[in-house]
Amino acid sequence: MSAPIVSHLDPDSVRRAAEILGNGGIVALPTETVYGLGASIDSASGINRIFSVKGRPADHPLIVHGSSASILDEVSDHPTAVARQLAAEVWPGPLSLLVPRSERVSLSVTGGRDTVVVRVPAHDFFRSVVNFLGSAIAAPSANRFGRVSPTTAEHVAADLGDDVDLIVDGGPSVIGVESTIVDTMTSPPQVLRHGGIPIEDVEALLGMSLAESDGTVRAPGTLASHYAPECQVVLTETADEAQSLLRTLPPTAGIVESPASTGLYAATLYSTLRTCDERGWTHALFVLPPNLGLGRAIRDRLKRAAAPFAG
Ligand code: TXA
Ligand code: MG
Repeated sequence: MSAPIVSHLDPDSVRRAAEILGNGGIVALPTETVYGLGASIDSASGINRIFSVKGRPADHPLIVHGSSASILDEVSDHPTAVARQLAAEVWPGPLSLLVPRSERVSLSVTGGRDTVVVRVPAHDFFRSVVNFLGSAIAAPSANRFGRVSPTTAEHVAADLGDDVDLIVDGGPSVIGVESTIVDTMTSPPQVLRHGGIPIEDVEALLGMSLAESDGTVRAPGTLASHYAPECQVVLTETADEAQSLLRTLPPTAGIVESPASTGLYAATLYSTLRTCDERGWTHALFVLPPNLGLGRAIRDRLKRAAAPFAG
């Protein structure tokens, strides 16, 4: 049976979601980036269910979500100065920070690692649930492993509806791509995943350049093939290139119109990938945005969507 969907505006929705989580259940929750599949970090059964429902390997760690910057000292005994500064300046917001793990966070959440990735989402409903529950929430994106992340409650219902206890509809995710992940334990800090906050903004706050990930602390999920729809995603750098490629492809191929801004491009990206499948397209041609700002995350996700699915 498909899980009930409740509006975040329903006056009882915070209590309902928190009670399910407190009893070891799993709830799909809205965030500003994408919808998350949440479990209490204190519930071994909830955490286990996240991995089994997603079909996610046990060594792929989950992001821990708190309701204020004090979560940093809860999940880490020794947060770095960089983590403290970024938490104070960006949270709530689409930035996840890799810090040393404290005993408070079980190894099942971190995939056996001594580090933890943590953030405070910019969605009031999510933070209210954390406060009502009284513990942090581990939440990967609410999609099956390797598939397109959900940015609406309907996306979640279509993908995971039969396997979750409740879906909370908080409206479309305003940012539309996952959080940026920064490893604060290296000098300079490294970008583990491009995402909702441009690294240029993080660099301006810190007054230093970030390094690209050197691959030592690879964030699983940064696998070559990810975010993949059923149709073949074909990437081009210009609209002219897309037009000439289209002539070489079957009539079931189509060109995706490029949104007017990178903000809109990010916000609509995952819905658009799903729409290509709904239209019955066999090939979807995208014109990539320039490789700066939010464009970096969009290019990253589109390249993974275009890579052949390795299983
Ligand atoms: O915007 C987001 O971050 C969304 C929303 C729901 O908050 N969450 C999300 O979670 O994208 P997920 O599980 O789909 O992606 C989390 C990424 C994965 O690539 C995971 O490997 C990485 O974070 N990660 C988490 N903890 C880590 C750790 N200790 N070391 C390295 N990578 C870690
Ligand atoms: Mg994900």
